[in-house]
Amino acid sequence: MRHILAENLVATETVREFIAEQEQKSLLRFLTCGSVDDGKSTLIGRLLSDTKQIFEDQLATLERDSRKYGTTGDDVDFALLVDGLEAEREQGITIDVAYRFFATPKRKFIVADTPGHEQYTRNMATGASTADLAIVLVDARQGVLRQTRRHSIIASLLGIRHVVLAVNKIDLVGFDRDVFARIVADYTEFAKDLGFSSIVPIPMSARFGDNVSRRSMQTGWYAGPTLIDHLETVSVDAAAEQPFRFPVQYVNRPNLDFRGFAGTVASGSIGAGDEIVVAKSGKKSRVKRIVAQGGDLERAIEGQAVTIVLEDEVEVSRGNLLVAPEARPHVADQFAANLVWFDEQALLPGRSYIFRTETDQANATVTELKYRVDVNSFAHQAAKSLDLNEVGVCNLSTQAPIAFDTYAENRATGAFILIDRITNATVGAGMILHPLRRASNVHWQALDVDKSARAEMKHQKPAVLWFTGLSGSGKSTIANLLEKRLHASGRHTYILDGDNVRHGLNRDLGFTDEDRVENIRRVAEVARLMVDAGLMVIVSFISPFRAERRMAREMMGEGEFIEVFVDTPFEECAARDPKGLYAKALSGEIKNFTGVDSPYETPENADIRLETTGKSPEEMLDDLERWLHERNIAQRPLADECGSI
Ligand code: ADX
Repeated sequence: MRHILAENLVATETVREFIAEQEQKSLLRFLTCGSVDDGKSTLIGRLLSDTKQIFEDQLATLERDSRKYGTTGDDVDFALLVDGLEAEREQGITIDVAYRFFATPKRKFIVADTPGHEQYTRNMATGASTADLAIVLVDARQGVLRQTRRHSIIASLLGIRHVVLAVNKIDLVGFDRDVFARIVADYTEFAKDLGFSSIVPIPMSARFGDNVSRRSMQTGWYAGPTLIDHLETVSVDAAAEQPFRFPVQYVNRPNLDFRGFAGTVASGSIGAGDEIVVAKSGKKSRVKRIVAQGGDLERAIEGQAVTIVLEDEVEVSRGNLLVAPEARPHVADQFAANLVWFDEQALLPGRSYIFRTETDQANATVTELKYRVDVNSFAHQAAKSLDLNEVGVCNLSTQAPIAFDTYAENRATGAFILIDRITNATVGAGMILHPLRRASNVHWQALDVDKSARAEMKHQKPAVLWFTGLSGSGKSTIANLLEKRLHASGRHTYILDGDNVRHGLNRDLGFTDEDRVENIRRVAEVARLMVDAGLMVIVSFISPFRAERRMAREMMGEGEFIEVFVDTPFEECAARDPKGLYAKALSGEIKNFTGVDSPYETPENADIRLETTGKSPEEMLDDLERWLHERNIAQRPLADECGSI
């Protein structure tokens, strides 16, 4: 629809002028936040309809002119026409955040319209990441609430520096000056450490339009601007010219004669002939051409999508950054960050998530949760995990180095999201604070004697046989028998058993979800070292979570990880109850017991499934042995060598 209108209208001179005029106006991006009933949608509706009036007055003449030129402009929504495409593009990026466009004669605006259900924090973070200003709505009857504080903190974390404190529904408190003053005092006190450079309080009634675009007759005591006045004039000090950053989206190589790096300039600008540096390798080159859709450009600036051709054949892959040589970003695999958590499932330090920046991606774990921020008092609270909508400060470690700026330096290259590896949902958003010095000081040692040399000397293929299953399912019994057989046949083996490891290396861990994740992370790391030493490692841990079993699998080489699901039903384990733990757990004497009040996530793709019910351990061992034999895991058939055990 819009496109058709555009085609019809663009023909006329007047409309072209009109569009040019819109393009020259400065753009303010903002979002509205606050509690559910504070009147967010009413305010957005009010802004859209009020400004449309202002706009339409201005347009009336233009529209008449357009008709004269024979266009079909009867119900033209000029506002949408001008920026509709951008808004549409942006809607594609996020699920729930709708971006609405409106304009006044002085400025154009994009407001992130974030729906107010329980996923609000996620949507708000998405909207806030590009916004220059936040309208924090407060219901005059309610004052500053928990949500007001939470959203203000998130806005501050996301780099918003300008706030309008909209004290809404002022009509419902009789336009009372004191109520307004009290709320302003409360909020100012709360927000004093949030780093906002302006907080402009406005008493308003979004419903009746008081002080939105029209000065209210009822608030004679208020001398400040109306909301529209303020939005039109607030200076959001377009960050001083930032250094050039170009995240490489893909390498464009249509034929042997052309090799360019495609992406969008994230900040700063670049000109043909300029020197650049490839962030991760430090390699230098010069820009030979800047290719854009309409032809080559002399310069490209922030927001432009271009393909950069370099003078030299330097290695640059997707996810890398081309940057200005005089202002290099950080390159590190460990850093501190603010983290906002969106997911029902808590953030668990030690769990592996997908870490994603604008174009780069790597596996990452939170190595340390330093503290959670209390959204009421700002206090730093010790925490082992972050729940839905919580905010914290943590250290992260990525599996490969990442090129980044701190969020304070650059919002485009300093932000990231975390994605759950199993559900693929975006579970958190982060703002990088600084790299950790140790990341740049600890280097991986290249060693001469390697895994294959060690394994060859032992005449075996190193592997991890990872036994998972409920407590009392028979993991340890079978693992033990297997080791005996392997050992007897000359294999070099080691068993890592939950009960034993928890007496030493992991004696500090209990049975909460967080502790189990850390338990498995450590054991997987130890198993990896042992595989590297050329051993056949048998791991026997409940390992109740898919995410950590998958992480362990991905830490090992191809074919080195064999997941063995010891499949014994809960009832059977509870009936066997070798350590008397089920009786205690079922009577409530011990907490967080797997299968009782702590989950066990059944393997979906175990390499081997051993159904133990009605079978002897020896029978199962035979199954296992046959499997290993068929896959050539042990180079010589085990049975030939070990005879009986
Ligand atoms: S895991 O879940 O973190 O992988 P792990 O295998 O190390 O568990 O330890 C499980 C063993 O700890 C069980 O076999 C049992 O002997 C003992 N145990 C004590 N308390 C619990 C509990 N709450 N849940 C499960 N196992 C427990």
